[in-house]
Amino acid sequence: MSNVTVIGTQWGDEGKGKIVDWLASRADIVVRFQGGHNAGHTLVVGDQVYKLSLLPSGLVRGKIGVIGNGVVVDPKALMTEIDRVTGQGLVVTPETLWIAENAPLILPVHGALDRAREAARGEHKIGTTGRGIGPAYEDKVARRAIRICDLAEPETLDWKLDELLLHHNTLLAGLGAETFTKEQLKDFLTEITPRLLPFSCQVWDRLDEARRAGRRILFEGAQAVMLDVDHGTYPYVTSSNTVAAVAASGSGVSPSSVGFVLGIAKAYTTRVGEGPFPTELHDQTGRTLGERGHEFGTVTGRPRRCGWFDAVLIRRAVRVGGVSGIALTKLDVLDGLDEIFICIGYELDGQKIETFPSAPGAQSRVKPVYETMPGWKETTAGARSWAELPAQAIKYVRRIEELIEAPVTLLSTSPERDDTILMRDPFED
Ligand code: IMP
Repeated sequence: MSNVTVIGTQWGDEGKGKIVDWLASRADIVVRFQGGHNAGHTLVVGDQVYKLSLLPSGLVRGKIGVIGNGVVVDPKALMTEIDRVTGQGLVVTPETLWIAENAPLILPVHGALDRAREAARGEHKIGTTGRGIGPAYEDKVARRAIRICDLAEPETLDWKLDELLLHHNTLLAGLGAETFTKEQLKDFLTEITPRLLPFSCQVWDRLDEARRAGRRILFEGAQAVMLDVDHGTYPYVTSSNTVAAVAASGSGVSPSSVGFVLGIAKAYTTRVGEGPFPTELHDQTGRTLGERGHEFGTVTGRPRRCGWFDAVLIRRAVRVGGVSGIALTKLDVLDGLDEIFICIGYELDGQKIETFPSAPGAQSRVKPVYETMPGWKETTAGARSWAELPAQAIKYVRRIEELIEAPVTLLSTSPERDDTILMRDPFED
């Protein structure tokens, strides 16, 4: 019996929510290990629609949810989310939600700096979610973050706030944005401390106990490999590592606990925010994919950019992300197209290349080299077995497997939880 780690292989929004929800029902504990409330997904359970950003999905299934040390926690956003789902009937208590006491906090200064910097970047803006994720990770690495455990030590908090404000107010003033007083931040923290502290604990220790007891752990990644701060389309990325290796360091478990790595890939590609996107479509087909796939950002509501499946990028995500198998989602969005394109390589300045370059200039100049396949007229929406799929759709999936050098172990054919074709149960691997 293995644990499972789920990561995105494209630029996020691959439909992780549904897959994670499905897997959560077979797990005992669901762990978030990176990112923050920049992530977002919608879970439909019966007649309830849950919108989650920071809370691990397992809570919806009555499982223990864990926020690991690799996550940056906005305490206000967290409490708002807890209040919302509690209002919908979920039970969120320190018994069901464990938050790492060494997780760094996102404070109001972080969001303010994120937005002020984006405004100042002009045409080179990253298109962040504006929620302070980047500045909070910067503070962690610069060793000036306020962590949850600091809330229990007023004397520590006092000098740490001075250090934090010295840095942030200098930057905010330089950018012409409003600065913050120590009192403002103290008031903010005083208000949230009594609610937040009871959830905090030594997550690594509890996870180790769970491992010894043979409990199944699902690690729920946020964002995706192409947004990874090292392996993605830097600088148009998020500020954390999103690959499966981080499930270990971001929650305090051994690398061997990561288990089966399920990479989620959409049957086409989307991206929100700025940055290179070789297979992006600016034509009617792109608009059709966006409309059929309901491609609007869950967090910001921005329309997603749409394009063809890029096998080269996913092959890379499979390799650097340690992907054992792929869950292919939204195949039904391609139903009825005459022809389907798959990117199998690139051309850069007249030269054929087989991997995606690292420098931003080259990344924006690459032209995709496509292989085309006939589409299918039948609908794949709602298929629950391989036999229900049109032959041409099966050929498309098989070709993808060859190109990305990984098996498709799960196929999702509609937003409904049960419209899923399972080739291999990742927990049984
Ligand atoms: P940040 O994470 O808010 O700093 O944003 C950096 C980049 O990552 C932007 O392009 C965002 O649109 C993108 N991003 C962050 N979180 C997500 C997500 O959950 N899905 C898709 N894109 C995301």
